[in-house]
Amino acid sequence: MSDKKPWAGRFHEPTDAFVEAFTASVGFDQRLYRQDIAGSIAHATMLARQGIIDEDERDAIVTGLEKIRDDIEQGRFEWSVALEDVHMNIEAALTRKIGEAGKKLHTGRSRNDQVATDIRLYLRDEIQELLDELRRLQHALLDLAEAEAETILPGFTHLQTAQPITFGHHLMAWFEMLDRDAERLLDCRGRMNRMPLGAAALAGTTFPIDRDYTAELLGFDAPCSNSLDAVSDRDFAIEFTSAAALLMMHLSRFSEELVIWSSAQFGFIILSDSFCTGSSIMPQKKNPDVPELIRGKSGRVFGHLFSLLTLMKAQPLAYNKDNQEDKEPLFDTIDNLKGSLKIFADMIPAIQPQREAMREAAQKGFATATDLADYLVRKGLPFRDAHEVVGKAVAFGVEQRRDLSEMTLDELRAFSPRIENDVFDILTLEGSVAARDHIGGTAPHQVRLAIGRARQRLP
Ligand code: ARG
Repeated sequence: MSDKKPWAGRFHEPTDAFVEAFTASVGFDQRLYRQDIAGSIAHATMLARQGIIDEDERDAIVTGLEKIRDDIEQGRFEWSVALEDVHMNIEAALTRKIGEAGKKLHTGRSRNDQVATDIRLYLRDEIQELLDELRRLQHALLDLAEAEAETILPGFTHLQTAQPITFGHHLMAWFEMLDRDAERLLDCRGRMNRMPLGAAALAGTTFPIDRDYTAELLGFDAPCSNSLDAVSDRDFAIEFTSAAALLMMHLSRFSEELVIWSSAQFGFIILSDSFCTGSSIMPQKKNPDVPELIRGKSGRVFGHLFSLLTLMKAQPLAYNKDNQEDKEPLFDTIDNLKGSLKIFADMIPAIQPQREAMREAAQKGFATATDLADYLVRKGLPFRDAHEVVGKAVAFGVEQRRDLSEMTLDELRAFSPRIENDVFDILTLEGSVAARDHIGGTAPHQVRLAIGRARQRLP
């Protein structure tokens, strides 16, 4: 078989050349070749076991497919647009190689269940790679958090100084977000791991196939239960892209903080030169291009999620050619997500925290005002009254350009006679963070416990 269409029997005219190019997917779906071949080998193995093809035919098919895989990997395979997609290209090459037996491979199968199987296998593999990068990033965060467990950083709300925190605690917030992302990926991989093969075009097949056996060969948990659903379902792609979009949103927020922190105005961190670029006109510039680009890339992944939802929204059962449009958004999501995770995992260990600048910033902005209010509550003042007293002290400090800790005891006592000499312990940044000593709190001791728990559960 040359580039003759498998459906040529019913047709009188050749496909219009532009239509051929327009409907082809081989330009992008060839990246499914490994999964396509694995699926075909499992299918042929099952067909032989069920006596649908004989063992010699199976052996010829398996050897032929393995050779084709080699050819593709060695760059010796010629992809043909006339053969539309990865499935028909490989099947045609098989028949060219082994003759008659190749024509039997498609018995009891359709490209509809074939492509649905290929994408699930492909995503399953890719999720593993994404998880590996994600875990690497999480480990990098744990290492940095451990080194910075005691480092004082101003914590913000509304990007205004709120309360002192530890840098380690801040980094562990990112760890938690990524941990949920990993959970989501694992969860969607679990639901994805059902096998469409056997659904054939939509209704199943008249051959005595053994779907459980094929599923077992391919490492699927089970065959899909309904043949119509098996060929038309792309929920798994949407779930995956949704998990990916959330993860990109996290990386985008993280990037935003890196951009802010590395600015001259904040100066909390120095990003390694290898993750920055310069300006072609301004000699002084060192721009945080990498985090900026990742922040930007989140947009295209959100877009892919919407592409896929829209792709599916009005499709009648079962398979429709629309589904061919599922691949590019998925592939682009994977490529960009994997790249972003890899870069983050490399970039985080190369961060140089500027502890002095962080501390200085925490010293400004009356970060320990809440500590003073809590102190007054412990001395018997209701919280609302304490809030007001401290508000007045802060107003005085703003006027005088002095922090609460820089006022004298007499000055402070002018706002409340309940204030005593022990107040200065709680007005220090170290005292403030150490006092938040409970699960989820910012005290260095708690940060270390959180890191310990995380290390235990992290693969
Ligand atoms: N290239 C097609 C896709 O990606 C394969 C399935 C084609 N099936 C069909 N009935 N035209 O969806």
